Amino acid sequence: MSVSSIRRFVILFAVAFVAFASAPTAFAEPYFQGTKSCEECHKDEYKAWEGTKHFSSYRSAHKNKDAKKITKAVGGKKNMKRNKSCTVCHYATTQKKAEDKPKVKFGPACESCHGASSVWEPIHSDYGGKNVKREAETSDHKAKRIADSAATGLIWNSMNFEAAAKCMKCHGLARSEISGDAFAKMLEAGHPINPSFEIVMFSQGKMRHWRDKRSRAELSRLFVAGQAAKLVSATEAAAKTEDAKYKAAQTKRAADAKAVLQAVPQAATLIQSPSDDNARKMMQAIGQQDLTDQIGGLMKCAPADKENLWQCN
Ligand code: HEC
Ligand code: HEC
Ligand code: HEC
Ligand code: HEC
Repeated sequence: MSVSSIRRFVILFAVAFVAFASAPTAFAEPYFQGTKSCEECHKDEYKAWEGTKHFSSYRSAHKNKDAKKITKAVGGKKNMKRNKSCTVCHYATTQKKAEDKPKVKFGPACESCHGASSVWEPIHSDYGGKNVKREAETSDHKAKRIADSAATGLIWNSMNFEAAAKCMKCHGLARSEISGDAFAKMLEAGHPINPSFEIVMFSQGKMRHWRDKRSRAELSRLFVAGQAAKLVSATEAAAKTEDAKYKAAQTKRAADAKAVLQAVPQAATLIQSPSDDNARKMMQAIGQQDLTDQIGGLMKCAPADKENLWQCN
């Protein structure tokens, strides 16, 4: 075996190990490192995030007039920043080593959307060694870098469905870590749920931290990915509760998403049996197709007073 093939074997083994270790019986889950390391290399993205509600809510959410009541209703720790039923959505953590206790330190942050980074971070920006520049990277290395960092949890730009699934689980009150019973109590105590949260409207306004404005064709695919994620998350959430109010909210989310997806021929299987897998297959079948004609009229701009959301320009 040549040195380079041994190296490749070792890396492959490491990736397989990581995939194995992140199974439910895990002992070495990837963890959140916090935003500091991202900031070093992604200054503009960091600045944009600092201007969003995700950033500012760290200092404000727990002061909302209903926060105490909602925390009390689910039981457990009285402080919203320490209660697991709140922290999974409202906060991002940081830790230096796997053994450290995760510390709540930010509102929803880079890794809440791009994935816990402890494993993929050193892989995703390495073009093939310390002194290798982007232009000098071989195409084999690039393909492997992208695949390995995705396999260890990085959500790249092109992964519309995976990104949308992250938004929809938090914004649709559909995170699998939280029981249907706890969600029911939260809603009862006045926790908001916005059934019309839509990824294009909510991501292309103040939140946009990517250099190139997305084309209409790209937005049409992102919109469809968002509807798929809404359908899958709502279907799973509705199935895990008997509570009338929570079930009704989730059934409505699922029905709304289905109504939109009717316009997309590739969505037929997904509509019949909503699952992550069928959503990914749909996105694959859509490929680079422009869906503006099918769903263009359904993509809504934000009302003028919602300046932080997408105003269609
Ligand atoms: C050492 C510098 C460095 C650090 C630290 C770093 N990145 Fe990156 N990141 C890069 C580079 C360089 C690229 C572009 C890779 C390429 O050319 O494909 C990139 C790409 C990305 C992309 C993909 C963009 C696309 O084209 O889809 C995301 C998302 C990302 N980084 C997020 C993060 C987050 C979140 C963190 C912190 C946990 C982080 N990065 C830390 C340098 C870094
Ligand atoms: C599944 C994710 C999720 C969980 C779990 C969750 N929240 Fe929220 N929460 C949200 C989202 C998303 C919003 C914004 C909702 C909107 O405006 O539509 C929100 C909004 C709020 C608001 C209004 C804040 C404001 O600034 O307007 C309060 C208060 C709140 N949550 C408290 C709590 C408490 C307390 C807990 C724990 C018992 C909790 N939440 C658990 C996702 C969640
Ligand atoms: C880890 C959970 C989580 C994820 C993932 C998440 N959000 Fe949020 N988001 C929240 C919470 C919680 C709030 C409300 C904060 C508050 O009001 O205190 C919020 C608020 C927002 C707001 C401000 C809304 C307003 O009315 O001003 C926008 C915009 C937004 N999110 C867009 C997105 C988009 C787009 C995605 C996916 C790309 C996303 N979020 C992913 C938890 C999350
Ligand atoms: C609320 C979710 C969310 C948060 C928080 C978030 N991102 Fe992103 N990020 C996205 C989405 C979604 C995209 C791609 C959108 C698309 O392709 O249309 C993206 C794109 C990117 C890109 C590609 C940029 C480009 O020019 O194409 C980088 C790099 C990145 N994010 C880094 C970061 C860093 C660093 C942070 C924290 C400071 C961060 N993101 C916080 C959701 C998020």
